[in-house]
Order: sequence, then structure tokens, then C-alpha cells
Amino acid sequence: MDQAETLTIRRPDDWHLHLRDGDVLRGVLPYTARQFARAIVMPNLSPPVTTAAEAQAYRERIVDALPDGLDFTPLMTCYLTDSTSPDEIERGYGEGAFVAAKLYPAHATTGSAHGVTDIAHIRGVLVGMERIGMPLLVHGEVTDDETDIFDREAVFIERILAPLIRDMPGLRIVFEHITTAEAVSFVEQAGPQAAATITPQHLHINRNAMLVGGIRPHAYCLPVAKREKHRLALRKAATSGSAKYFLGTDSAPHAKSAKENACGCAGIFNAPFALESYLAVFDEEGALDCFEGFASLHGPQFYGLEPNQDTITFARAQVQVPEQLEAAGAPIVPFHAGETLGWKQVD
Ligand code: NCD
Ligand code: ZN
Repeated sequence: MDQAETLTIRRPDDWHLHLRDGDVLRGVLPYTARQFARAIVMPNLSPPVTTAAEAQAYRERIVDALPDGLDFTPLMTCYLTDSTSPDEIERGYGEGAFVAAKLYPAHATTGSAHGVTDIAHIRGVLVGMERIGMPLLVHGEVTDDETDIFDREAVFIERILAPLIRDMPGLRIVFEHITTAEAVSFVEQAGPQAAATITPQHLHINRNAMLVGGIRPHAYCLPVAKREKHRLALRKAATSGSAKYFLGTDSAPHAKSAKENACGCAGIFNAPFALESYLAVFDEEGALDCFEGFASLHGPQFYGLEPNQDTITFARAQVQVPEQLEAAGAPIVPFHAGETLGWKQVD
């Protein structure tokens, strides 16, 4: 067991983040910017970010919302639709307006109504992305009514992802927020073209957390948490030291009233204690020595960026997570609300 009392690593980045817009953006951004140097910002606004001009304008709104003294770089993404033009993608990537493009199967999750209805519709876009080396970020769930929600990721691998990587062996793919043992073995076998992000919630909770002893809307996100054996496979992958796995919180803020609702929104707001949450897992697994790779090195390596030069330090200390926080004047419940975590960011 590693009994180190402090841990210093290069400053991490968040490779999957929802910042929203307007007042909510202003409310949630400081939590992320306090911990992370950069983040891949998801484009599922309403309406979605589908052009280079929209991505640039959104980036400016994020930079404007940043409190003085916090140093944070948003990395923007393009939301793919059935009618995305290959030229817009290529031009946007060339200009640096987009770092990657995001595939939401239509109606898979929050803010995906304009997503892709059939991957065949974006074949031209994907061929272009393969040629220019632009990463494709995938929400990997099928959406047909016949497929059980707990099987949607595994079926997506079989039906869409496995054929896609065979068809386009040069296309760089991040399988986002993986939740199953099937996803881990897919990524393991896929060769260097594929990597995956893993959220803190999928390392901490299984589906019982959502359903035992009453229905718990704050444990609900998409892809939904699965059985315990899947959580264990994810913990093993994240803490293995493999460069194929990196940190992506999928922090997805929704007002408390939108979660505690007859039709509660999918999404867990984990930004306020994201690194403390991941650290608990690496500590429990005896893998603190692998934390820097997962949090700060593997992501930049996949995206072809330099790791951050500055560092961040944690100390073993009890941290109490509040029952709720405020963002844009409305209460919002963070992941681990009311719990105590064992590491504290000190520098
Ligand atoms: C995300 C959101 O709220 O934007 N929700 C979620 O449950 N993860 C969308 C997403 O990443 O699926
Ligand atoms: Zn997400």
C-alpha cells in the first residue's frame, strides 16, 4: 500500500466536459478551471455547436466567463449531424476552431436530438477526418427501441464501432465514458487508433446505487451505470497504466429541480471534486503511481499535444462534499454530495 501523504503530478486535463452556456457556464466553469488546465468541451448546447464560427464564438464566451487568475484553455468540438459538411470539418480543424468532432447517435442522451440518425450519412466526413488525423469522439450507444438500455453500449460496439475501425483503420477514435467490460476489451484489442475516457462515477458506482433503497436521480447519467463486474473492469483498466485510458469527467450539470423530477435529466455534476473522486479510486486500488498517466499524460499523448508543465499537489485530508452548491442562482447537487473524500487539493 502506498502511504504517501502528498502527491504532486503535472496539472491534469479533462478530456470530456459539459460547460453549458450563459449563467450556468459562469457558475460551473470555476470548478473545472480550479483543477484542470484544458478541457475538451462538448458541443451539445441548444442549438448545438455545428460550425467553426459557432465553436469560436462559444470558446470566446467560455474565456469571458473565466474568473481572473484562473488559467484554463477550452478545446472545442464540433457536433456532427446528418448534414455536416466534410469541408466545414476540415476547415474548422485546420484553423484550430475544432480539436475533434463528436458523434451523438440521435436521441442517445441529453442534447442529442440533432445527432446522427445513421452513420452512413457521415461517411464522407469520417473519410476526411481519417485523412487529416482529426479525432472522432463517440457516444457509444444504440438508440433503437428493441435494445435494452443496459445493453446499448455493448450492442453499439458490435453494430457500429467494430465495423467502423475495420473500415477506417486510420480513424482516431475516443470511445467516450465507457461503462462496460465489453468496451474495455474492445479498446484493448483495437490497436493504437482507439482510446477511451472513463468518468469518476463509473469507477465508483454500479446500477444498485441508482435503484436500491429508492430511486436516486443524482446517480443517473448516460450511459447508465451497469453491473458490478463492469465497474470492476473499468477500475482495472483506468488504474492499469495503459495509455489507452484517460480522464474525462463527463461532468454534466443540471439544476436540482431538473434531476429530482418525474422525468429526471441524465447527467452527473462531478466537476467540484473531480480529481479527489478519481484519487479515491486510484488510492483504493493501490495505484497512485499510475494516476499521473491517467490524469495528465495519456490524454495529451492521444491528442498530439504537450502535457502541461505546471503541477498540482494533493494531501491526504478529509474533504467534506456539500449537499448542494449554487450555479446560476439554482441549487445543483454534486457527485458525492454529503460524503467525505480522503484527498485534498493543496496547491
Ligand atoms: C450529458 C449531458 O447532460 O449533456 N449527460 C450525461 O448523462 N452524460 C450528455 C452525455 O454526455 O451523454
Ligand atoms: Zn458527456
